[in-house]
Amino acid sequence: MTAPLRVGLLGCGRIARLAHLAVLSRLRGVNLVALAEADPQRRAEVRRLPAVAMVADYRELLDRPDVEAVIVALPPSLHADAAITAFERGKHVYMEKPLALNLAEAARMLATWRRTGLVGMIGFNYRFNQLYATAREQIGAGRLGELVTARSVFSTSTRPMPEWEQTRERGGGALLSLGSHHIDLMRFLLGREIRDVSAGWRTQRTEHDTAVLQMRLDDGLLVQSFFSLSGVEEDRVEIYGQEGKLTVDRSWSLDVEISPITLRYARARHLARALRALRGIPHAVDKIMSPGREPSYRAALAHFAAAVRFGRRASPDFCDGYRSLAVVEAAERCGTTDRWISLGDPLDAGLGMAATSGAAVEAAARRPRGVADA
Ligand SMILES: NC(=O)c1ccc[n+]([C@@H]2O[C@H](COP(=O)([O-])OP(=O)(O)OC[C@H]3O[C@@H](n4cnc5c(N)ncnc54)[C@H](O)[C@@H]3O)[C@@H](O)[C@H]2O)c1
Repeated sequence: MTAPLRVGLLGCGRIARLAHLAVLSRLRGVNLVALAEADPQRRAEVRRLPAVAMVADYRELLDRPDVEAVIVALPPSLHADAAITAFERGKHVYMEKPLALNLAEAARMLATWRRTGLVGMIGFNYRFNQLYATAREQIGAGRLGELVTARSVFSTSTRPMPEWEQTRERGGGALLSLGSHHIDLMRFLLGREIRDVSAGWRTQRTEHDTAVLQMRLDDGLLVQSFFSLSGVEEDRVEIYGQEGKLTVDRSWSLDVEISPITLRYARARHLARALRALRGIPHAVDKIMSPGREPSYRAALAHFAAAVRFGRRASPDFCDGYRSLAVVEAAERCGTTDRWISLGDPLDAGLGMAATSGAAVEAAARRPRGVADA
């Protein structure tokens, strides 16, 4: 029998305490042996865990010879240094998303990972959510016919954020925080690579906290996604095909929903679906109240541990992290060059009239060309 994997956790912040800590302290085949957390109050909160060494800095943890693999849940600005140092010290790495702050850092991480031949997995845990796994199977089996388009929304309600999450430079923004997941999910679900990107964003509470992303895949399929850190809690993917539409709502769906292409019997189907959904309400409320109970964190970490223990390939890996980050960077370049076509006031431009009020606009639109105000 293979000995349990000795794991260290780097960073005991929000996501580690919502998900990783509970999973790692119970996961079969894993021994959580050390934690690194810079904040003394957070260290005190997790000190109750028995037989787990606690250090203040992640680099100190990476010096420990008893740690074989690490889970990195540090702010993104520390991801590159943590991964490169870990690989160089012979430790396998599970890296929370995004892979890094930018592609230059990510390229150095990939080079070290490839040179050392260790396991390097990226925390796109939603691939391990059963709903998305089933959706991928259904799409792959041709249930939707030829695909037409796809769209998605990933947004969270306003919540207090650590400083790093409030500026893009330190790893924040809707594209890195939320978009990186859905960019990966589209590749995973549709089995195609992303070829072209266009995007726009807005800053309201924190930098780039809302973004709209359009992607053209390598067969021409168009995907549109909306991300917001200041919106309503929602995580939804819809894939349209010539023979049906597939919907996954991560919080509410009990199963992948496939709708036919016409509205025939739509009301009856809607009612039947609503009745079926009643069974799942406690489960859905539980998920919304406790996002850390999202089952995919456990499944992703179990996959990583098994890959290390049994010498298997882990997927998604650092290449998938790199591809997702490349889309984010391209979207940002697109946003900063501001490739928007400015309409100005279209009535003013087209009819030569300044539209000052709704009534004036309508009057101007109704008036035949060339008729001036009395
Ligand atoms: N997979 C997901 O769905 C998901 C969800 C949320 C966050 N994340 C990712 O997880 C990472 C952490 O996010 P978070 O929300 O938990 O952030 P956080 O700020 O709450 O946690 C980061 C922790 O790292 C600690 N830290 C900072 N410097 C350190 C050092 N030198 N040594 C040891 N500890 C140090 C901080 O004190 C903090 O407690 C980010 O990359 C984020 O994008 C992933």
